[in-house]
Amino acid sequence: MRNSAIDGVRGRFLDFSESVEKRSDFDGAVRYVEDGLLLLKEGHIVWFGDWSEGRDQLLEDAHIHEYPDQLIVPGFIDCHIHFPQAEIIAAYGEQLLEWLNNYAFPAEKQYGDIAYSREMAEFFVAELLRNGTTTAAVFCTVHHQSAEALFAAAQRRNMRIIAGKVLMDRNAPPDLLDTPEIAYDDSRMLIEKYHNQGRLLYAVTPRFAPTSTPDQLAVAGQLMREYPDLYMQTHLSENKEEIQWVQELFPDRKSYLDVYEYFGLTGPRSIFGHCIHLEDGEWKGLYDTDSVIAFCPTSNLFLGSGLFDLERARKENVRVGVATDVGGGTSFSILTSLSEAYKIMQLQKQKFSAIEALYMATLGGAEALSLDHLLGNFEVGKEADFVVLDPAATVLQAKRSEKSETIVDLLFALMIMGDDRTVSHTYVDGRLVHKRE
Ligand code: GUN
Ligand code: ZN
Repeated sequence: MRNSAIDGVRGRFLDFSESVEKRSDFDGAVRYVEDGLLLLKEGHIVWFGDWSEGRDQLLEDAHIHEYPDQLIVPGFIDCHIHFPQAEIIAAYGEQLLEWLNNYAFPAEKQYGDIAYSREMAEFFVAELLRNGTTTAAVFCTVHHQSAEALFAAAQRRNMRIIAGKVLMDRNAPPDLLDTPEIAYDDSRMLIEKYHNQGRLLYAVTPRFAPTSTPDQLAVAGQLMREYPDLYMQTHLSENKEEIQWVQELFPDRKSYLDVYEYFGLTGPRSIFGHCIHLEDGEWKGLYDTDSVIAFCPTSNLFLGSGLFDLERARKENVRVGVATDVGGGTSFSILTSLSEAYKIMQLQKQKFSAIEALYMATLGGAEALSLDHLLGNFEVGKEADFVVLDPAATVLQAKRSEKSETIVDLLFALMIMGDDRTVSHTYVDGRLVHKRE
């Protein structure tokens, strides 16, 4: 669809006016504006407040989109997703290590072909936007072509994406392996070409400890030292067999996290997918290094990996963002992911309110990705990425929404029942980039 610039949006807005340190602070930070106005200029928010206060400053020919019956929230943030796994979502029968060998690796082989990578990058970005995801931290394949294709697709929409070429030089099929030298040279080339270009950001991306030699992890650490504002993304403590394997491969390291720490890969911009079976020392290590967890609810269930302990993460004061982890994850939808997260909490007798869930998907996600100074809520000056949610997206959803007497209950039902159908419009950089058919 064609992008169209607008001056503003009127409707019902829900966001968080400030960062929440403790769960008891959610009520103070949540901001609901029943008839609001959001004014935009050059992709940024220039005014936000009540329609009654803002209307007077509108020029006569102002171009305003109105959504009186919908709910407008900041764009969703997916903290961990694999671009080259879209086509193997919902693959039957295996847990992590067999699933990688049987499904993920064969799919990823195709992305050395730049034409295929470009075609799939367009599909992938469109699918993110259809689901209301406006920012994502993305794994590509070992081929630099896959990262180039993804960055190009995001750049065309001026979308904020963190991504990187995967590094893996052992324990995978030969045509998916690089070397420490290629890992360094290709990553450097991509960093120089894309990092901080417009809204693009680069993440050094060792797949996980078992698929990198110590030499390659050392190269990853070297890149992190050479470019101090890079991100790092990988997997940590997802599956018990995987953890056992890491112990065998790195007998000198005291834990799985210690492998990454030893090579200089922990830190405030380091995002660790899963973190389900952490030991006490690893929780402490994540806190001490200010590292971040990507909680992947649908994937953790689908691959039978385990139940993430969100309560523990709160207690340990470790930042957590929500993530789809497609294609181990079974949906591109952050709403669906939050719904599965709620059930994971239920199985552990933990609470997960709709307000906390919305926070995790927006401002909390921005904090997890160290982007909260740029996006995540409707604060003036921030980047204008937001989504319009439809409480009557399906006949059942409409029936349920009619019964809602509070905005929190409406939001809860939207989250539990929601998916891509719930997202009626997505805006990136102040432009409409997706409109539901
Ligand atoms: N661990 C290493 N690679 C992967 C992957 O592609 N998906 C998931 N879920 N876990 C991984
Ligand atoms: Zn993953």
